[in-house]
Amino acid sequence: MKCRKCGGAAVLELRRHNAAFCTPDFLEFFQNQVREAIRKYRMFTRDERVLVAVSGGKDSLALWDVLIDEGYHTTGLYLDLGIFDYSVESKAKCEAFAARRGVELVVSSVAAEVGAPVPVIKDVTRRPPCSGCGLSKRYLMNRVALDLGVPVVATGHNLDDEAATLLGSVLHWQTDALPRQSPALPSTHPRLVRRVKPLYRLSERETAAYAFLKKIDYIVEECPFAKGATSIAHKETLNRLEAESPGAKHNFLLGFLERGRPAFERVEDVVLNECTRCGQVTTGTVCAFCKLSDRVKRSASV
Ligand code: AMP
Ligand code: FES
Ligand code: ZN
Repeated sequence: MKCRKCGGAAVLELRRHNAAFCTPDFLEFFQNQVREAIRKYRMFTRDERVLVAVSGGKDSLALWDVLIDEGYHTTGLYLDLGIFDYSVESKAKCEAFAARRGVELVVSSVAAEVGAPVPVIKDVTRRPPCSGCGLSKRYLMNRVALDLGVPVVATGHNLDDEAATLLGSVLHWQTDALPRQSPALPSTHPRLVRRVKPLYRLSERETAAYAFLKKIDYIVEECPFAKGATSIAHKETLNRLEAESPGAKHNFLLGFLERGRPAFERVEDVVLNECTRCGQVTTGTVCAFCKLSDRVKRSASV
């Protein structure tokens, strides 16, 4: 197997691109895909600070690594979900990465902000753990960014994540979710920061290869609550399609973004208010995060 660019020995074959690359040319390919994502969606400029949400996994640490190499002004954000050893280890990976690269990492704890860690929130709400967890993550990412005066949050969602979410939305024809699925969500209110996904063009296999080749130490285990999640089933389905026709995932997602998504766009008629308790954006009077936090604190006091 020869590298498409230099003809040297290749380390990785990318069937969907009908190409193979040696280490330096693969790293350059990876960087170019991130550059293309940032350029195409005008995600952020060199003058802006970017808050990179890092979970300790390969995707978000690979993203942070590329952005640092590209010379962007980044700050990391780790949200401590309080999920047993998984959180202890993933936090340690983020701290070690930040120390090695000499960059700033901010840590915010769900237990401190909501009143209890994710496993307790799950018991109090009697909902799947990912629901309280996802709500808290989205809220805290935005609030920390506002507090720090950073206009944009970047997450490590990759091609596989995005294609699986799209498949889930299409299977149920969630026409509300479809227009919101985008690598870049604008700010629609002064108290909402932009959200971007610079890895949307890169597959999970490619981010794993990048992390390995750049010797990034990341947590391999998934969150213990992720087992059996429908998103995993959707990823497996897409992987089977991909094995039969390389490029299927890429075409599904990028084709949707280019040609499908515009058909679902419409003028948002929701009115955004500021939560009377915390000032963050809500469609009601008190936001879902404040309500969750009330419930958790009430149940702790009985
Ligand atoms: P997931 O929802 O776990 O697939 O994660 C998607 C993205 O959300 C990751 O690539 C990170 O950018 C971000 N993220 C997930 N968990 C955390 C966390 N505990 N702290 C900060 N960011 C996170
Ligand atoms: Fe949120 Fe697993 S990461 S429940
Ligand atoms: Zn609130």
